[in-house]
Amino acid sequence: MKSYITTPIYYVNGSPHIGHAFTSVMADILKRNRVAIGYELLLSTGVDEHGQKNQEAAADLGMEIKDYLDMRGKEFRAVFDMLDVSYDYFVRTSREGHKTAVAGMEQTIFDKDLIVKKQYTGTYCKGCEEFKRESDLTEDGQCPLHPTMKVEQTDETNYFLKMEPFRERLLQHIADNPDFVQPQAFRNELKQMLAEPLEDLCISRPKTRVTLGVDLPFDPDFVTYVWFDALANYLTNVGWPDEGYADWWATCEHLIGKDILKPHGVYWPIMLMAAGIPLPKKLSVHSHWVGAGGVKMSKSIGNVVDPIEIVDTLGADALRWYLARHMRSDSDSQISVDFIKQTYNSELGNKIGNLLSRAAKFSKSRFDGKVPAAGPLSAEDEAIRAAVAEAVKGFGAWIDLPDIPHNLQKVITVCDDMNTYFAEQAPWELIKNPETEERCRTVIYVTLDCLRLVFEALRQVIPTSADRALAMLNAPVSEDKAWKPALDVLGQETDLGEIENLFPRAQ
Ligand code: ME8
Ligand code: MG
Repeated sequence: MKSYITTPIYYVNGSPHIGHAFTSVMADILKRNRVAIGYELLLSTGVDEHGQKNQEAAADLGMEIKDYLDMRGKEFRAVFDMLDVSYDYFVRTSREGHKTAVAGMEQTIFDKDLIVKKQYTGTYCKGCEEFKRESDLTEDGQCPLHPTMKVEQTDETNYFLKMEPFRERLLQHIADNPDFVQPQAFRNELKQMLAEPLEDLCISRPKTRVTLGVDLPFDPDFVTYVWFDALANYLTNVGWPDEGYADWWATCEHLIGKDILKPHGVYWPIMLMAAGIPLPKKLSVHSHWVGAGGVKMSKSIGNVVDPIEIVDTLGADALRWYLARHMRSDSDSQISVDFIKQTYNSELGNKIGNLLSRAAKFSKSRFDGKVPAAGPLSAEDEAIRAAVAEAVKGFGAWIDLPDIPHNLQKVITVCDDMNTYFAEQAPWELIKNPETEERCRTVIYVTLDCLRLVFEALRQVIPTSADRALAMLNAPVSEDKAWKPALDVLGQETDLGEIENLFPRAQ
């Protein structure tokens, strides 16, 4: 079975930031989950290279457009590689095949008389690359999402896609497919956007203003408006308009931040309806990261969390863990370098890594470097095993975005239970007396086997650390068949690997 997951393609007018890292890491977690349970996956992420603000960013650095785009493309890719985002396809909208397909889609829609040319006067936000209505703006007339960018007044002739003819049909689609937009709060927001008649969507820019775009096939004096070009990446990545695209497309799930709900929930489905192409399966929407105290992150406040800096100091998994664990689906979540460090030390370090290291080192020194063989299980052993099996169960089935923090909460709770179990059973006391030595072996076996199961699940979230832990336990996971959470997989009397400190304490 197939599953196609996309992330937004990010604007390259600056370096990749924590928000970009977030959506791509979440997409990667969903991919690893689905691959683990036996799906064939296609994950696309990448960059949106067209539009006015990218063009201006290149000019600000005095760079040739092509060199600028190459530089940023490499930068984004490097950050995703560094974060272990296992994308299958890295999108660059400057690719010739993409541009040809976009032009083809526009021509199709134009031929259906759904695109009109007209003069338009209005307010434009470069940050959103969108025209704004007065009601979209703040009291002082700025875009609420990009208050420092200053909206511009434009008076231009452009091409527009008729949207209103499709509004009822889209509302019906949303009503018929409750899973089309998740979570519910954003589905309601989208229904709100569709409650009033829709204005035509501007799909062009005159070349006198913007040249960085795709030529409009029916008028060489214009390029395509960024959204029309950018959204189409989701189709061109899987080879549209060639036939083979349909299998992947039917499974397509878009991960997006709430900032781009309207383009994905309104423009994109209507563009597809206009072109006669089926809609994607699902829009999974998430809220935003903000700084500590709920303050928007900004360079001037100095509360920006730089993904590269975190990876360099704490490692990719410290960041992946924080993002996965502390994301809320319908309200903004807070992030800071200190929060990441605290969570890393207290959860990955104290609750997970420390237990592994204590139990494994104990085996190394007392049981000749081997996993001990277990004797009969006590009620306490059975209880902790059942709790661990229950806690990781979620990762053995299909997960959606909100399941990620939910499932990790269960893992952390059961790690607390495992620490309590270990402290109460006190194997270091049991080993002192020959009569309780077998009991000691059993406790160590149960602990190591439970940790093995936890790390198998965590391969979906912190893959590098989890694989290192499994190597210490000498229990690599075979990827030949679908993963099933199971107990008693750890080999008894097998040699442990080299024991290292998985999550060294961060100062
Ligand atoms: O909108 N918290 O690109 P963009 C969480 N090129 N996620 C965040 C975030 C935050 N604070 N800030 C950004 C564009 N994101 C268009 C998209 S798609 C066909 C074209 C993430 O660089 C989140 O996924 O502004 C958001 O939707 C996306 O980055 C916007 O990236
Ligand atoms: Mg943006």
